[in-house]
Amino acid sequence: MPDTFKFSAYTHSIGHPISHRRITMGKPKQVSELSDEEIKDEVRRAYARVASARQGSCCDKDTSCSTDSLAARLGYDVDHLPASVTESFAGCGNPTALASLHEGEVVLDLGSGAGLDAFLAAKEVGETGFVIGVDMTEEMLQKARDNATKLGITNVEFRQGDIEALPVEDNSVDVIISNCVINLAPDKTKVFQEAFRVLRPGGRLLVSDMVLVGELPKEIQESVHSYTGCIAGAIPEAEYLQLLRDAGFEKVEVLGRDGSGAVVSSKIKAMKPA
Ligand SMILES: C[S@@+](CC[C@H](N)C(=O)[O-])C[C@H]1O[C@@H](n2cnc3c(N)ncnc32)[C@H](O)[C@@H]1O
Repeated sequence: MPDTFKFSAYTHSIGHPISHRRITMGKPKQVSELSDEEIKDEVRRAYARVASARQGSCCDKDTSCSTDSLAARLGYDVDHLPASVTESFAGCGNPTALASLHEGEVVLDLGSGAGLDAFLAAKEVGETGFVIGVDMTEEMLQKARDNATKLGITNVEFRQGDIEALPVEDNSVDVIISNCVINLAPDKTKVFQEAFRVLRPGGRLLVSDMVLVGELPKEIQESVHSYTGCIAGAIPEAEYLQLLRDAGFEKVEVLGRDGSGAVVSSKIKAMKPA
């Protein structure tokens, strides 16, 4: 294994802003040496940097992976949005497009980042609906709140919190969306239990997330950069689906996949029984 590599070797065609950075492996910390809280600190630090990024700056000289074109490539209509919304986009799919949102619905975005999905969802649910974005990184929350003000969107609220312990009431949400976040959570069982708790009976969950469909080399599994770049925290797709079922979800299905290699972006749907 060379001492430098591109994560894109494991996530062909996704173009995640962190995954496309060229990483030098000196004496990296090992993921298995870190506690869950230390992993979350690393994730926070990484996404604080993404929140401060300006368009294209996170992709070295590879202009094809600017976050604007990443969003466009994933099917977002971003022409009408200011750069401050798209420049820190770090998703790997388009869960809002999958969710078929209706007027008046309450939507929760797990790991809302700079707010792109939350803003599109807010438009779809209209004035009678509401969107809650939860994120643990202060810099992302600030950026999302500033963006909401800039766009004049009032039916959205960004809350600081951990998706493993959601600051959201029981049975209060119609739809949960999430874009490339759950892979970053050390305890995915808790995330799915929390998602189940806050969804109303009959509610639905639509996520785009990185999952394993092959084996990662040990060096990648243990790399903190690989973890924060949405690679090393990915779990096998079958295990992901089983954790959803174990949390109580039904009709758990994969709607599609993007990318190739050991880690792909999967579109996953699950329902809370009515
Ligand atoms: C890959 S970015 C995706 C952001 C956004 N969904 C998007 O598509 O641009 C991951 C985001 O999830 C947040 N995050 C990661 N782990 C989290 C956790 N346990 N609780 C809350 N937020 C978390 C990070 O702060 C970051 O903003």
